[in-house]
Amino acid sequence: MSSKTAPVNDDSKLPAAAPACPVRIRFGLSAKLLLLTVLFVLLAEVCIFPSAISNYRLNWLENKLAKANTAALVFAAAQDISEELSQKILASIPARALAMKSAGLERRRLLAIANTPQLPSKVLQEVDMRDTLALPAIVEALRTLLEAKDGDLLRAVGPAQIGEFVEIVIEEGPLREAMWAYSRNIILLSIAISAISAALVYFALHYLFVRPLYRITANMAAFRADPENRDLILKPAPRHDEIGFVERELADMQRGLSDTLHEKTRLANLGLAVSKINHDLRNLLASAQLFSDRLARLPDPQVQRFAPKLVRALERAIAFCQSTLSYGRAQEPPPDRRSVAVMDIVDDVRETLGLSPDSRICWITSVERGLAVDADRDQLLRVLLNLSRNAMQALETCAPNDPARDQIRITGRREGAVVVIEVADTGPGFSEQARAKLFQPFQGSTRSGGAGLGLVIAEELVRAHGGEISLVDGTIGATFHVKIPDRPIPLHQRRSERVHV
Ligand SMILES: Nc1ncnc2c1ncn2[C@@H]1O[C@H](COP(=O)(O)OP(=O)(O)OP(=O)(O)O)[C@@H](O)[C@H]1O
Ligand SMILES: [Mg+2]
Repeated sequence: MSSKTAPVNDDSKLPAAAPACPVRIRFGLSAKLLLLTVLFVLLAEVCIFPSAISNYRLNWLENKLAKANTAALVFAAAQDISEELSQKILASIPARALAMKSAGLERRRLLAIANTPQLPSKVLQEVDMRDTLALPAIVEALRTLLEAKDGDLLRAVGPAQIGEFVEIVIEEGPLREAMWAYSRNIILLSIAISAISAALVYFALHYLFVRPLYRITANMAAFRADPENRDLILKPAPRHDEIGFVERELADMQRGLSDTLHEKTRLANLGLAVSKINHDLRNLLASAQLFSDRLARLPDPQVQRFAPKLVRALERAIAFCQSTLSYGRAQEPPPDRRSVAVMDIVDDVRETLGLSPDSRICWITSVERGLAVDADRDQLLRVLLNLSRNAMQALETCAPNDPARDQIRITGRREGAVVVIEVADTGPGFSEQARAKLFQPFQGSTRSGGAGLGLVIAEELVRAHGGEISLVDGTIGATFHVKIPDRPIPLHQRRSERVHV
């Protein structure tokens, strides 16, 4: 089959080779996935940032309170601490003031205070580490980060090692700076994590998904250009995931399509050949008809007996060749039905097969007296001829021929409005292969030189009469049942027939 699409280059004919995408994709799946991965990782970092920064602030304050606790121990142990030393202790925390409440005392005691001249009078924020809640801690952390100014003071209270609690007043500026440094680190880390994970996702998806997809697409484009080329059928990768499944399904579909196209091409070639043969056959038969017409004029009684049959057979053959040619395919014309005597047709079949009483095969007929069938005479003759010729050919395959055993039996009877004709033989019966492909064109033949069309034609002709043909199970040899129903008669016609009676 020729294709209208552009020819594919050699690369695309090698499905297993490194795939090249047949279309240029500007913003492909891999790029989209890369961008989305970066966005999702950053989004996740943004979501966890508030609680991370809040934890950082609390840890920072805890660290200062731990130092304050150590300083408080020093103040408690030493009775007399010089002003200079107490300023140094405060600077090591660093804090502006340090106080502690000892157990049993009513008020907290100021242990040290920085002697900075510009000390603000008011503390703006308070954090009690003994009683912190998650949500307010987050809000406070964000406020410190965004609103705290240099010189703002914050009072932090925490449990004391030798008392009820320890308390420090510190500047919020260094805390804010430390929190910004931490935030910058988090942002850099997030970008690094998202870039690494996006790259990993990109390569994983590229190799697991995008590359196989390109391979499938390239193969589909190549196969579409030349669907009858079996070399282009996709060779599925040994994968058990969705891609593997898709590849296997696609390969199966391509195989089926390729087979169908091959079959169609074969049938098209056959159709052409049949038409050519028909054409010349019709011409040859027409010459034979001329000779048979002349033969019919001879006075010999034997010739007079057989010549009309020969003329009729030739006429039928010419008409059949003609109809096949005019339809362009072997489509049967609708049956031209009339009431015909079954016995007449059966006799014609026997004569056409050349069977006589002294033949090696015994021809037995058992047809009800005067049985008439409502059918196209020529078509019914072809049905019975095909069945009987098959029976004869089947019997000829059995050696040695024994007329007592080798029989073809034709029976005919009426069952209500249906005429039943049976063609039975005592041959070897149907092989498994022929039975499995029964009535399938070109499929069921097991005979050398057989086309596998005889039964198909018989079935088609019987069906055109609204009848049925079937192979009867469990008989010696093979038995076919042919049922031809009478045409339904319209009620008004039946009524007028009754009036005439
Ligand atoms: N009476 C029979 N006994 C045994 N096998 C039969 C009989 N009739 C048909 N068959 C089997 O069925 C097959 C199909 O028959 P069919 O008439 O369709 O084709 P064919 O005889 O092989 O070829 P052709 O198209 O020339 O008739 C035969 O090849 C044969 O194997
Ligand atoms: Mg046949």
